[in-house]
Amino acid sequence: MEPLDHSRAPVLEALTAYHGSGQLPFTPPGHKQGRGADPRVRAVVGEEVFRADLLAVSGLDDRRSTGGVLARAQELMADAVGAEHTFFSTCGSSLSVKAAMLSAAGPHEKLIVGRDAHKSVVSGLILSGVRPVWVEPRWDPELRLAHPPSPAAFEAALAEHPDARGALVTSPTPYGTCTDLTAIAEICHARDRPLIVDEAWGAHLPFHPDLPTWAMDAGADVCVTSVHKMGSGLEQGSVFHLQGGLIAPEVLKAREDLLGTTSPSVLIYAVLDGWRRQMVEHGRALYDGALALAARTRERIASIDGMRPHGREDFCGPGLAADLDPLQIIIDITALGTTGYRAADWIREHHAVNLHLADHRRISAQLTHADDRDTVETLLHALSDVAEHASWLRPAPTVEVPDPDGMRLEQVMLPRDAFFSRAERVDVEEAAGRISAEMLTPYPPGIPAALPGERLTAELLRYLRGGVEAGMVVPDAADPGVRTVRVVAGS
Ligand SMILES: Cc1ncc(COP(=O)(O)O)c(C=O)c1O
Repeated sequence: MEPLDHSRAPVLEALTAYHGSGQLPFTPPGHKQGRGADPRVRAVVGEEVFRADLLAVSGLDDRRSTGGVLARAQELMADAVGAEHTFFSTCGSSLSVKAAMLSAAGPHEKLIVGRDAHKSVVSGLILSGVRPVWVEPRWDPELRLAHPPSPAAFEAALAEHPDARGALVTSPTPYGTCTDLTAIAEICHARDRPLIVDEAWGAHLPFHPDLPTWAMDAGADVCVTSVHKMGSGLEQGSVFHLQGGLIAPEVLKAREDLLGTTSPSVLIYAVLDGWRRQMVEHGRALYDGALALAARTRERIASIDGMRPHGREDFCGPGLAADLDPLQIIIDITALGTTGYRAADWIREHHAVNLHLADHRRISAQLTHADDRDTVETLLHALSDVAEHASWLRPAPTVEVPDPDGMRLEQVMLPRDAFFSRAERVDVEEAAGRISAEMLTPYPPGIPAALPGERLTAELLRYLRGGVEAGMVVPDAADPGVRTVRVVAGS
């Protein structure tokens, strides 16, 4: 077969052709190339945003999509990352991961899922009625942080539940740590079960050999990536990839169609398409630069009093993670005597620098190929400054983080049944022992601490309440202050 021409960008080219041929829409979107948009809106977001916002069908392509614009762009993306099929999504990995799950299991069927899954996976369980078989992440008791589950944990779960339809693992985690995907894929395939990898944080992994192993190379069946997270995608730009024979492409497509929008954003498609070309042509060099910059940045952060950037020595090894994405710089600031919440807020207020994760003892900075010496200098200056002003941020409330036993709740009802059951709000003091009817998710990173159908414990509720007092955000709770909790009536 002729090699594909990666200098082409079908969506971008079709967009240029649309403008070049003077196409006139009597279709949505109603702003009609921006002409109807309020000039004050255009002044802020720009004319080009509106010009690139048009219908995918009877707009970018003709009524029957005879130009194959999207199909060609997806084919190029699949080729770029070594997948057999690629699907673009304009609804984030929140949608892609649901489509992937539902292509492996249906209502009442079992799916093996790492319990450190993102809330979108839990939403998928709620919507579908799939029965989760939870696999425990690897908890580091000293750092009070979880890494993705081990292959042995998936092996044990599959042995105990041979009727499970497949497995889903999150790797890298938002903390950048990875499991041994090759081993998990082999375990699943030995039983003819597909492995789905939520690789929302790993869109860049295919493009440099020194980054952790990419799910398709590891033999996963489906993997989901958020190109907007680590790549150059616009927010909501996600792609998912498929290979092997355990999940049929038409099944995956139908699941996506079930959940997806009928009005996909051509703007998001165009940027996904352009990102693929950028990565094929320049990815290696861009990540050479980004990785070198990350290494230097880590060294400089380590020299700031009170800050410890976690590296492989802390996160990887027996019983811990198998690998680490060095672009996610997770910094332990315990020695500063304050919380990550306070430090992150102070840095934004005083330096206009926005950090990524913040928890009771850590802050994090995500570097990408877009960073350079200047952005990093600004970051380092902000970090040095917060370290010098740490006394201003003390004393900080302490957050009691339970050990894994206290953190883990028993799943006593299906997530779907609990979520849709008759529910009531009770004071947090009275919620222990009751079954949660809602997700309680510290954000970021968005991993539910409690989910519908789990029996709440006093220890976990104390952690969430204390966390909120200290600055944790739990946006999906009916009461984000977690003074009351929505529980299953009569539970
Ligand atoms: C592990 C994981 N999966 C899925 C998602 C959902 O991705 P998106 O924001 O693209 O919808 C996130 C978002 O943070 C995530 O962290």
